[in-house]
Amino acid sequence: MITRKSPSELEKMRRSGLLVYQVLHSLADMVKEGVTTHDLELSAEKMIRDAGARPAFKGYYVPAAGSRYPYVLCTSVNSEIVHGMPSSKRALQAGDIVSIDTGVELDGYFGDSALTVPVGPINDSLRKLLRVTAESLELAIAQAKPGNRLFDICGTVEKYVTSNGFSIVREYVGHGIGTKLHEEPQIPNYVDRQHENPRLREGMVLAIEPMVNEGGPEAKVLSDKWTAVTKDGKCSAHFEHVVAITKDGPWVLTRP
Ligand code: MF3
Ligand code: CO
Repeated sequence: MITRKSPSELEKMRRSGLLVYQVLHSLADMVKEGVTTHDLELSAEKMIRDAGARPAFKGYYVPAAGSRYPYVLCTSVNSEIVHGMPSSKRALQAGDIVSIDTGVELDGYFGDSALTVPVGPINDSLRKLLRVTAESLELAIAQAKPGNRLFDICGTVEKYVTSNGFSIVREYVGHGIGTKLHEEPQIPNYVDRQHENPRLREGMVLAIEPMVNEGGPEAKVLSDKWTAVTKDGKCSAHFEHVVAITKDGPWVLTRP
């Protein structure tokens, strides 16, 4: 069942969403050569706790990994797709791209967002990868309105990404969000006829998160059981926003 949130619930989700925005943008401003992903982790945890919120990822059980995720952030560098783990040994280098993904729980409601940022100057192919992935998310958000169906979102990402010569990760998907981090429905970034195609209704809240590969779509998980990487070693980008479906259209809760 896809839950629908009342206006007062949406106000709470708005507060979670804006906190995630603040955290991510502060971290994006810290990103430069020599900064480690552990530095980002420490700052994120402090900002979230200082705001009276709880980091949503830390301690979150994921069945596929068979354990609880140990960090506040997922920091996925270059060929890492998602669930890269912060490390004091991972100093960012010029030319890298780093996806920063975090979630919070504030007053019982969750926020979840991700962005991918360049470290210093990056090559043309990576610049295009970041642009196309971010644009695919914007096009998908525009489809999040009453009367449309879920596949309008999924198909929009798929078409835009593949027509630009990149590929869609199939193993990881977006999700509903509310009083839990992951709620129904699952939101693949491609049209999957195995999935349901529910009509979108006022009050539904969706975390839309395209994961886009520079090369082939194939992914594998490293021996740490968490870090998903591209099989071909090429780079991957990830952007995510939480979007409420309102009678006036999409309301992006994770940005001002
Ligand atoms: N934004 C990702 C998702 O929604 C990352 C959360 S997984 C966690 O799946 F284990 F790190 F919490
Ligand atoms: Co998410």
